[in-house]
Amino acid sequence: VKVIVKEDYHEMSCAAAHFIESKIVEKPGAVLGLATGGTPLATYEELVKGYKEGKVSYRQACTLNLDEYVGLEEDHPQSYHYFMREKLFDHIDIDASNTHLPNGNAENIDHECQRYEGLIDEIGPPDLQVLGIGINGHIGFNEPGTSFDSTTHVVTLTESTRKANARFFPTAEDVPKHSITMGIRSILKSKQIILLASGEDKAPAIQRLLEGEIDEEFPASALKNHPDVTLIVDESAYQGVV
Ligand code: F6R
Repeated sequence: VKVIVKEDYHEMSCAAAHFIESKIVEKPGAVLGLATGGTPLATYEELVKGYKEGKVSYRQACTLNLDEYVGLEEDHPQSYHYFMREKLFDHIDIDASNTHLPNGNAENIDHECQRYEGLIDEIGPPDLQVLGIGINGHIGFNEPGTSFDSTTHVVTLTESTRKANARFFPTAEDVPKHSITMGIRSILKSKQIILLASGEDKAPAIQRLLEGEIDEEFPASALKNHPDVTLIVDESAYQGVV
């Protein structure tokens, strides 16, 4: 695991955007694996800025997102479909039909998991996967205890994750109870992975990732089994590392 430490959130986001842009310049038809959440927000802003400045075109690129809530309409402001359109896809020249997220409204959720895993194999695997990390070490919605052999599956969200996400919903009760997520094995199919973390809340997770054991109780530790992972973190998220 390589580590890039930047001074603050802004610098971390610029470094992450630069990483993604370089991949697209090198391979215009690259498949990008993308995440939602607070961490990549400024990275996406930087990508939009870079696109508007004419640095890169996403016309040939494809995206595969990590996860989506079960039971929210695509147009629900908290759905990850909506998030990705609002924060990125609507502001760059990517073809909407080349952007993919799990369908949390599929009639048969198990079939949807199989379809999505098939899609990862068919159009992917991602040339570059962008990840965030939960304070409990989750990646995607793979909570502690998830098998490292897991492919795309349905997850019952833990109370701690529902609580962490409640800030985006009118009340904590409105946070969906289930999501569809790429599994650990699906994520590790990516050719290259960057994991972004910012802020002191993430410091214990970054420390455990770098210094701890590979353990299914700490999902992000699976990344140590992958040959090309780069952590891009800011100083506050790195402060626990000795
Ligand atoms: C989002 C995702 C999650 C987040 C993680 C960190 O698609 O897969 O694993 O990356 O929950 O979220 P933030 O960035 O909001 O701290």
